[in-house]
Amino acid sequence: MESKRKEPAKSLRIKVISMGNAEVGKSCIIKRYCEKRFVSKYLATIGIDYGVTKASRIILKRLATIEVQVRDREIKVNIFDMAGHPFFFEVRNEFYKDTQGVILVYDVGQKESFDALDSWLAEMKQELGPHGNMDNVVFVVCANKIDCSKHRCIDESEGRLWAESKGFLYFETSAQTGEGINEMFQTFYMSIVDLCENGGKRPATNSSASFTKEQADTIRRIRGSKDSWEMLGVRPGASREEVNKAYRKLAVLLHPDKCVAPGSEDAFKAVVNARTALLKNIK
Ligand code: GTP
Ligand code: MG
Repeated sequence: MESKRKEPAKSLRIKVISMGNAEVGKSCIIKRYCEKRFVSKYLATIGIDYGVTKASRIILKRLATIEVQVRDREIKVNIFDMAGHPFFFEVRNEFYKDTQGVILVYDVGQKESFDALDSWLAEMKQELGPHGNMDNVVFVVCANKIDCSKHRCIDESEGRLWAESKGFLYFETSAQTGEGINEMFQTFYMSIVDLCENGGKRPATNSSASFTKEQADTIRRIRGSKDSWEMLGVRPGASREEVNKAYRKLAVLLHPDKCVAPGSEDAFKAVVNARTALLKNIK
């Protein structure tokens, strides 16, 4: 017998939340995606904004349930746009649970907002409690406001290194120009669908970074070094042998042929230069 209706696509309902310091652009990123517009005036989110846009019609102001198609699946996405201000902690903490995706945002011109990412993860972890599992959640990091290139203080490799070493997606975005926004959401939704189809576990391909924690930590340490001694990890006044030994160890760890961690090439060059500079002055 012929069925009267077309088989509906496998549908899926997912919950997504936004996280990050106040004023980094969380609401603007969501607005850019849902409403294709940008608001330059800052309107702090009070507590949580939740929304639905259905068939591109905005049902309620600031509401964002989006219907998207990923492969053969129809997905209904509920976006909860959280306030970044510490004052709203009590409101936010209710919303962490049952989340499949997190949009983690920082402002590339504001170091503090980048440094705060770890405490956002900690807040979520704490609220989920001992039985909560962050491995079942897809995280996408948005390095936002890339249009303000003059004030940029966190470069791409630094942000990418942080994200990828945690197995998170990373995108450079501007809610103002729209750069990166659609690509970010597409990849994000695709990963969430992969996760759901994989029984709620992050698929192996993006659950582990293609570089080691030691490599990531070393690159970060080199970035933060004040001088060549510190960069090579030797005491000031160390001997030629000590410098060369430290250099060889770092060179093996960070050589661009061996290490694919973001920023490894610059770190490697810095180490080569540090060694040259030190050896020049050691008799
Ligand atoms: P809370 O709701 O307080 O947590 O802040 P939020 O993260 O939602 O920030 P919001 O989206 O409201 O944006 C804060 C300010 O940054 C606004 O004045 C926006 O116009 C501006 N802004 C957001 N994204 C961008 C961007 O990509 N580029 C530029 N230049 N400004 C942006
Ligand atoms: Mg907001």
